[in-house]
Amino acid sequence: MNARSGSERVTVATFAEMKRSGDPIVMVTAYDAPSARVAEAAGADAILVGDSLGMVVLGHPTTLPVTLEDMLRHTAAVARTVTRPLVIADMPFGSYQASPDDAVANAVRLLAEAGAAGVKLEGGRHVAPLVERMVAAGIPVMGHLGLTPQSVNVFGGYRVRAKEAAEAIGLVEDALALEAAGAFAVVLELVPAEVAAIVTEELEIPTIGIGAGAGCDGQVQVFHDLVGLSGFTPRHAKRYLDAERLMTEALSAYVNDVRSGSFPAEENASHASEDVVAELETALPIAGGRDDEGM
Ligand code: KIV
Repeated sequence: MNARSGSERVTVATFAEMKRSGDPIVMVTAYDAPSARVAEAAGADAILVGDSLGMVVLGHPTTLPVTLEDMLRHTAAVARTVTRPLVIADMPFGSYQASPDDAVANAVRLLAEAGAAGVKLEGGRHVAPLVERMVAAGIPVMGHLGLTPQSVNVFGGYRVRAKEAAEAIGLVEDALALEAAGAFAVVLELVPAEVAAIVTEELEIPTIGIGAGAGCDGQVQVFHDLVGLSGFTPRHAKRYLDAERLMTEALSAYVNDVRSGSFPAEENASHASEDVVAELETALPIAGGRDDEGM
């Protein structure tokens, strides 16, 4: 029996077990009740309420404008919808950089108010002391290395990271520092497959890849990329459905039906009895109504 076949809630301990047993960990983002319901029904082990929310749901050009309030609202929607998957909330830009006290307080809100089972934050050695403090406070932490979108202005774009040996060595050191600090898993985003496979071998905690090859312990993808709702499909993703086209066709049919008078149909309506209609007509004009004198 592995985590995939069970109906028991997935926990950080399940992640550790899956690393040991070699069962791939499947994670997908979700941001609201419908996407969470679909992710759970599809059998995902974990749901990331990612700050990709900013781009794929809220229409921002980057993840930077996403607020803690955004994350609380969307995490709560996901957490109250699912029962089995582990729900991880991203800590948005600015919610953990200013001070460790603020960071812990913000992470506590994501667990206590929104119902997340853990948080994810970006960065390596420089955030390790913070990760240690959060874990000591009872907050499970997932790390995030490689392309860290909250640092887009430092990197100058969304490019594959750790292609050179020096940066790849730094990536391994960052991953080991996160593990030593108590992180329960690390996301590796847009790093060469060979580098991700080495990091995965070096770590006792699972790596979850996105654009990091098949050698990671698990994979995470953005829901909207998988179903064709993000406008384009990044190279690291695969589109399993053209939902935008299908949904547009469905809504066009609705628009046409309303305009042609074929919707709503008889079966979409409810009816009042003849007596009620007669009583209503007798009561007209109703005082204060449009036809009432003085209007
Ligand atoms: O916000 C997000 O969706 C993420 C994934 C890309 C890992 O951080």
